[in-house]
Amino acid sequence: MGPTGRRSDREFEDVIMSMPSLTGRRILAVGEGLGPVAEGPLFGAVLEIAGVERLRAFGPEVADLVLIDADSTDPEALVAALASLADLPAPPPTLLIGARLPAGLVRALLKLERSDVLEAPFKPEQLTRAVISLLASSSAAAGGAPVSTSRCWTITGAVGGAGSTTVAIEVAYALAQRSRKERSVCLVDLNLADGAAAAYLGATPALRLAEFGAHAERIDASMLPAFAVPVTKQLDLLACPRDPEGFDLVPREAVLRILELTCEAYDWVVIDIPRHRRPWTVDVLAGSDEVLVVSELTVPALIAARSLSEEIERRLPEGPTPRIVLNRLATRMFGPAPTMAEAERALQRKAEAGVSSDWEAAAASVNLGGPIAQHRPKSRIVRDVSVLVDRLIADEKRRKAQATRAA
Ligand SMILES: Nc1ncnc2c1ncn2[C@@H]1O[C@H](COP(=O)(O)OP(=O)(O)OP(=O)(O)O)[C@@H](O)[C@H]1O
Ligand SMILES: [Mg+2]
Repeated sequence: MGPTGRRSDREFEDVIMSMPSLTGRRILAVGEGLGPVAEGPLFGAVLEIAGVERLRAFGPEVADLVLIDADSTDPEALVAALASLADLPAPPPTLLIGARLPAGLVRALLKLERSDVLEAPFKPEQLTRAVISLLASSSAAAGGAPVSTSRCWTITGAVGGAGSTTVAIEVAYALAQRSRKERSVCLVDLNLADGAAAAYLGATPALRLAEFGAHAERIDASMLPAFAVPVTKQLDLLACPRDPEGFDLVPREAVLRILELTCEAYDWVVIDIPRHRRPWTVDVLAGSDEVLVVSELTVPALIAARSLSEEIERRLPEGPTPRIVLNRLATRMFGPAPTMAEAERALQRKAEAGVSSDWEAAAASVNLGGPIAQHRPKSRIVRDVSVLVDRLIADEKRRKAQATRAA
């Protein structure tokens, strides 16, 4: 971000570089002056330069997108041509550019389901970006809603620093180790301002959700490979670059859209969510197959874990029952600490699992960058998480079998 809080041109270029290329996309360019864009901002696209009359005979075989230079086209003829496009059963995504954009023309453009306006002067990368976004929104609309069969586990902390991110990473890695299929597990860090998952894994976060502003519908499945960072062959990470305004800049729709696409693309999705409620928190929990609340074995953390679990149950009575994971269990207690039985009394429920404390393994892994299971495979943390993951998988199989018998 620049000193004004807005992104610099360089950063915009980086975003565009990370987006899908225009190679092979067919663009009908209306306006004689548009030839040079084929070499610059629309490099790779197949461009047909035509007059406004070409729009009258438009069909899906002509182009994937229409680009119109309003300054070199008669506005009246253009309004009529846009009206004929709007009458088509599937109007093309259309981008209008120019310095003179009469209101009547813009009104005609807005009758199209997928359209955008770029007022001159603009930078070449702004044109690239607008075209990519429109193409993405169009393929999202055409794609329909594939049925998702993925399993989604959401993990949150009862108090700050309880170990939510650490447990989420180890759970995701354990699932990836159980899978032979490439890119079958995705870890999603929804701590949008300062998520630590990427830093713990030594990865560079690439999920640039803030760039889409209010246009979540433009986030397309084809962008996932650019947003997801591979951790292993089986495991990808979706995490946003650090941005103090992250929570304000990314609307609920963008979070839900990326999760929807992620669930369509991966077999397993593990989500690390912040413990404070966000506009999308309830949706994420409602869409999860499992919710894990990570707590420490201290009185305040146990009280918080109980309150948070009760809150989730009250809000989502039909949703998944939160399971409590007690993290950093020490073999030798330093000072007075609740026993497991006392902890369960305070929680008023059974703890699902305990994860041992192993500071050396946890610190070594974050310093080296990678899961504990990779750098310290013999750590008790790894063993405990493995037991937890196996139990959750077995529970799920049992539930599935019961549902099949009942049906
Ligand atoms: N079982 C464990 N044994 C030893 N250290 C641990 C264990 N679990 C987590 N840690 C360490 O505790 C610290 C906090 O862990 P982590 O960042 O995972 O917590 P968090 O709940 O995600 O925190 P935040 O509230 O900031 O999101 C880290 O230094 C991590 O390495
Ligand atoms: Mg965290």
